[in-house]
Amino acid sequence: MYSKKRLLLVLFCCISVLTEAQINPRQYRIQKKIVCQQGAVVSAHALASETGLLMLKKGGNAFDAAIATQLALAVVYPGAGNIGGGGFLVGHMANGKNIVIDYRETAPAKAHKDMYLDSAGKPISKLSQDGHLSAGVPGTVAGLFATLKYARLPFKTLIAPAIELAAKGFAVTDSQAASLNRTRQSFLALNRKAVAFVRNSDWKKGDILVQPELAATLRRISRQGVKGFYAGETARLIVEEMNAGQGIISYEDLARYKAKERVAMEFLYKGYRIITLPLPSSGGILLKQMFGMISGKDMGAFGFHSALAIQYMVEAERRAYADRAQYLGDADFVKVPVKKLTSNDYLQQRMNDFIPGKAGSSQLSKAGTIAESEETTHISIIDKDGNAISVTTTLNGSYGSKTVVSGAGFLLNNEMDDFSIKEGFPNLYGVTGSAANAIAPHKRMLSSMTPTIVLKNNRPYLIVGSPGGSTIPTSVFQTLLNIIDFNLTPEEAVNQPKFHHQWLPDQVEVEPDFPEGVKKQLTDMGYRVNKRDPIGRVELILVREVFGRFITAIGDKRGDDSAAGY
Ligand code: DON
Repeated sequence: MYSKKRLLLVLFCCISVLTEAQINPRQYRIQKKIVCQQGAVVSAHALASETGLLMLKKGGNAFDAAIATQLALAVVYPGAGNIGGGGFLVGHMANGKNIVIDYRETAPAKAHKDMYLDSAGKPISKLSQDGHLSAGVPGTVAGLFATLKYARLPFKTLIAPAIELAAKGFAVTDSQAASLNRTRQSFLALNRKAVAFVRNSDWKKGDILVQPELAATLRRISRQGVKGFYAGETARLIVEEMNAGQGIISYEDLARYKAKERVAMEFLYKGYRIITLPLPSSGGILLKQMFGMISGKDMGAFGFHSALAIQYMVEAERRAYADRAQYLGDADFVKVPVKKLTSNDYLQQRMNDFIPGKAGSSQLSKAGTIAESEETTHISIIDKDGNAISVTTTLNGSYGSKTVVSGAGFLLNNEMDDFSIKEGFPNLYGVTGSAANAIAPHKRMLSSMTPTIVLKNNRPYLIVGSPGGSTIPTSVFQTLLNIIDFNLTPEEAVNQPKFHHQWLPDQVEVEPDFPEGVKKQLTDMGYRVNKRDPIGRVELILVREVFGRFITAIGDKRGDDSAAGY
């Protein structure tokens, strides 16, 4: 006779096998919204979200899910998911501890301030944006192992689905097929050997992308741990690739790479505790500055998408981004006056010249004076115990440098372009920088990534983040305001049209579906308003704790983003 406990166990195992079998890499469904009670994962790809969920169901926590989801994204979302790039993780543990893991890429030892300038001192963006020389020393694998300390399952279990997806292949979505076709010429130009992303005919929805070299690299990581990437065969293949293409990442650069645990940037807004990134991402500082500049205003009363609310937000964005350009860089290398830049007095004073109904000017609103000297991807996760993870990783541009490490099957980032390659010269996302973000050996390039967790009554309430380069902090800012001040539903908060101002160029960028009437009101105030491509791709989890615990996970309408939960 089976005991009751044993029967339950058998039942549980049957259900687990059933759900495991449900991850069918050749046929899967994108779920934009899920409401559940135990745990959820939302990411840029359905197969990756399902992989994360599988780990939660196997008894893993949010950290396990974060590792497995990132590894799966490195396979099924090659435009941004990666092992050849970097990222940042913000975690809130059920015991109240906040964690930040910085696995941002670093400049190689041979990098120097003027490495992307020609003999006349003119910047050559192509070199910082494409190919071997644009790559920073990858941080992702070190970051995953730094995260493992907080996880429960063995690394082999967490990486197994990614290995399988790479070895056996998965069906590409419609938009992935289009994106691979668009990038075909660059792949051909920037690689010396055949790469898995290029085939003879065009990709179409449902075609199977198989990545045997990537599978072999993942197996080495599975067997040898962090050394399976930063030493041995993988390191040899990276250095060989560098030598073949005038890249400068060396064995020593790889061997000395370390992920860093940092202290989270935390602040309060209307009773909510916001936990986000410190430097070397500008995201957390920008977020604190923007919230600080509008605090005290009853944004909700102005109304969602009212011209006045937008004006306050745009002017806060303008001023925060001006400070970014002037002051921010890797604080392990340069002195950054973070305390002053985020102090209440300073932020209030920054808005002194705000005139309601009249556009400000980036000529006049430069950085404050201080007395002291496409492609990224986000994952939001909650587990049944209340551990929350917000993690954003990137290759920088879509498919990064577009150079694959031959024999190792993964794309290298083009993160070097996030440095200021010349003072005042705009990068891929149009943002400028100063000496604070100049290139130096081993320095981390300034990021805009803003993985964020919001606590309500000290428990995770919102988990949010986005890709989008310089638009990331404004996407997160707007999504949070949409919920906290404008009372939008989670779905609306993510999907409503967004806008963006980044000091320079002095213009308000709006999404294609931004309301025409509001655009006209802003133009009448004196703003230059320009339509642009969609802004951000937010993955949001909202946890409501009233008469039980209800998790709502939303994948952004702007991509294939998909939520999974139980
Ligand atoms: O770290 C950063 O800020 C950039 N490398 C992020 C790039 C990005 O979000 C591209 N996504 N569309």
